[in-house]
Amino acid sequence: MHKNVIFCFSGTGNCLNLAKMIARDMGGADIVMMRRPFETTDVREAERVGFVFPCFGGGAPEDVLTYARSIRVSPEAYTFAVSMSASYPGTGLHELNKIIPLNYWRTVRHHCSCIWLFPHKMMLPPISVEAAQKQHEKLALDIAYDVMTKKATTKAPPYNALNAGENKAWPMIAKKKAAAFRVSGACIGCGQCAKLCPRGNIRIEGGKAVIGTDCAQCLSCLQYCPQKAISIGKITDIREHYHNPNVTPADLAQQVIHI
Ligand SMILES: Cc1cc2nc3c(=O)[nH]c(=O)nc-3n(C[C@H](O)[C@H](O)[C@H](O)COP(=O)(O)O)c2cc1C
Repeated sequence: MHKNVIFCFSGTGNCLNLAKMIARDMGGADIVMMRRPFETTDVREAERVGFVFPCFGGGAPEDVLTYARSIRVSPEAYTFAVSMSASYPGTGLHELNKIIPLNYWRTVRHHCSCIWLFPHKMMLPPISVEAAQKQHEKLALDIAYDVMTKKATTKAPPYNALNAGENKAWPMIAKKKAAAFRVSGACIGCGQCAKLCPRGNIRIEGGKAVIGTDCAQCLSCLQYCPQKAISIGKITDIREHYHNPNVTPADLAQQVIHI
């Protein structure tokens, strides 16, 4: 294992793209994708341990916090985290900090992947995908510099009761939304969605994808489907699909990425 480790959860590639750039600018790191089963948990040999994850429903995806609880970090390690959101960071960093105390944290924004709620261009304030990518190049360099020089953030991670309430209700909302997935006749059973699902919640049966209800709502299945065969309510058939332009399904499906 590399002396720099970054744990990353990513549905539509924004977080993975940033994690890869940070790793590159750090001079190398192992990026561990936070997918089930949680294979890499003992990183006590790492000198720097980081997290890059999105805000889902006012906080961290449940999988990030569950995974973090199983990770063993050296007490001497430098720890950092970056929370990505479309508009507000929510309580994810606050919750992660309770599990793994963070030396350094940042919040960043990129396009919204929650296709059933907003068009991806609804990112606030609005900005083009190309401009966001350019901003992230610079941000990655800043973050990598801070991490390599072991800069400490003195402020506590963001918290507000409204986001905490939203995040508490989120598993129920996510479960309800998961039941609304539909797979159309356009599905060719290619199995890409099954490979991408971080929870192993999709299987191919009779040449067609079957989606269960144990869903993290990362929407990678829907947003990356080459046939646009997956929907979650009528609105998702109309709206333009989005995924990070620099992240391929093959990138996202990996367990550990060596940079
Ligand atoms: C199910 C879901 C819920 C989301 N909830 C929020 C939210 O509460 N606040 C916010 O600002 N962005 C929210 N977003 C937007 C994501 O944080 C943002 O698109 C992020 O860049 C996605 O990262 P990824 O591409 O690595 O998955 C949500 C996205 C999804 C899919």
